Amino acid sequence: MRSACLSLLLVTACWALPFRQSGFLDFMMEDEAGSGREDFLERASPVMPVGPVCPFRCQCHLRVIQCSDLGLKSVPEDIPDDTTLLDLQNNKITEIKENDFKNLKGLHALILVNNKISIIHAKALSPLTKLQRLYLSKNMLKDMPANMPKSLQELRIHENDISKIKKNSFQGLSHVIVMELGSNPLRSAGIEDSAFADLKRVSYIRIADTNITEIPKGLPSSLSELHLDGNKISKVTAGGLKGLKNLAKLGLSYNEISSVENGTLANVPHLRELHLDNNALISVPAGLSDHKYIQVVYLHANKIAAVGTEDFCPPGLNHKKAMYSGISLFSNPVPYWEVQPITFRCVFDRSAIQLGNYRKK
Ligand SMILES: *[C@@H]1O[C@H](CO)[C@@H](O)[C@H](O)[C@H]1NC(C)=O
Ligand SMILES: *[C@@H]1O[C@H](CO)[C@@H](O)[C@H](O)[C@H]1NC(C)=O
Repeated sequence: MRSACLSLLLVTACWALPFRQSGFLDFMMEDEAGSGREDFLERASPVMPVGPVCPFRCQCHLRVIQCSDLGLKSVPEDIPDDTTLLDLQNNKITEIKENDFKNLKGLHALILVNNKISIIHAKALSPLTKLQRLYLSKNMLKDMPANMPKSLQELRIHENDISKIKKNSFQGLSHVIVMELGSNPLRSAGIEDSAFADLKRVSYIRIADTNITEIPKGLPSSLSELHLDGNKISKVTAGGLKGLKNLAKLGLSYNEISSVENGTLANVPHLRELHLDNNALISVPAGLSDHKYIQVVYLHANKIAAVGTEDFCPPGLNHKKAMYSGISLFSNPVPYWEVQPITFRCVFDRSAIQLGNYRKK
């Protein structure tokens, strides 16, 4: 039987036999000094029946290929052509080469977060004609990847070393919905006008914790959330938000804003949430009382010294379509006992107002 198995080894028939399989393995191990079971399996594997390929040490399930946390220095070569999700996060990949994704025509999601990528070959992403999600955060990229697929819906590229967004950086990306660009060494001068113009369906843009000093120009009118927290913006001009008729949330916390130009809020008629806390405002932004839909206004930690009775609510309730559900004013120099209760007559509930906690110096 042993010799029968041996001669059959090349056609692997013995694997199918329950009969004394372990004995057979024992024999192989005795016979080959220093060879263990793994060793034996590896040598036998080239002639094993070919199942779906899975790159060495990765985990493959259906069409999802998981190769995270493996210390990989480059993209594995033998990724199955029909892969839909490829997870390569938390590795040590330094470069994406021209042919790394050559055959992955069905790939929907590519996760490369937390590697050491500084170069993506200009043609590396071109074959990925179905790619919807590209996650490149926490790398060392100095430029936006070239030729990103037109199918892209979500680009996450925060925490890199990108200092410029060029006119053609997002060319043709008309399906992008979500864009996360924060924590890059961006300055306003590094963002070319109309760099965002092609993003005709974009709904969410976040550019937080950079060095930009103004709201980027030419943002698409499809935008519903704009998060610009933690930047160096010093004033909000009415023109900066012109045309953003769908904007519902605007995040400008932790900037250096000392003024919001009158007319700004009129340019964003559907705004619901405005975060202006932790800035340098000396008064409540003009136009709140005329705004029909605004419900949440964070103004805490500013330099607001006085609050007037018509700063938030119109004289009559008639043209306000939504009540406020959140207003914060604490950590401002205005003493809360000087703010008249009638100031908040168009607030849904008293608990929606945060006034106190002003620290006396
Ligand atoms: C912003 O500029 C300062 C001063 O030049 C620099 O130290 C800092 O790293 C920059 N921040 C970012 C996010 O690039
Ligand atoms: C803002 O502009 C409106 C309309 O032009 C005007 O009625 C209002 O007085 C202005 N408010 C301030 C604070 O300048």
